[in-house]
Amino acid sequence: MSSLVTWSEEYSLHYSPIDEQHKQLLDLLNILYSIDNGGTVEEPLSNIVFRLVVFTETHFAYEERLLDLVGFPNLRKHRAYHDSMKLKTRKVVKSYTKEHALNKKEVLFFLRDWWINHILKEDKKYEPLLFSHGLAIS
Ligand SMILES: [Fe+2]
Ligand SMILES: [Fe+2]
Repeated sequence: MSSLVTWSEEYSLHYSPIDEQHKQLLDLLNILYSIDNGGTVEEPLSNIVFRLVVFTETHFAYEERLLDLVGFPNLRKHRAYHDSMKLKTRKVVKSYTKEHALNKKEVLFFLRDWWINHILKEDKKYEPLLFSHGLAIS
């Protein structure tokens, strides 16, 4: 079974702490993809979606702090994208715990599109600042 999202160089911001966090998030998407395609996992789905909330929120907090430190001019807008994603991710988890059911396909496509778009279109915008501050290495 192929993975939904395979990490590739085009996603890299050339700063390993950020790349590692993005990889963790994409790994979770692949776990959900695998479940959606009949795969089984040892742990309860509730743990996986909880991990999704933790990874999402800690990554955003880390990234926003970093963007503040490097003086990213569009931080407000970037934070607003993150805030809407935080709300949506929490809603997913809430509906799961309430209804004991998760529309995995819907969640999966939403998450995939959001993360891929966000990394490629929005996160990429701060990459030049990582290079100019000597953080990113090509
Ligand atoms: Fe971001
Ligand atoms: Fe990010």
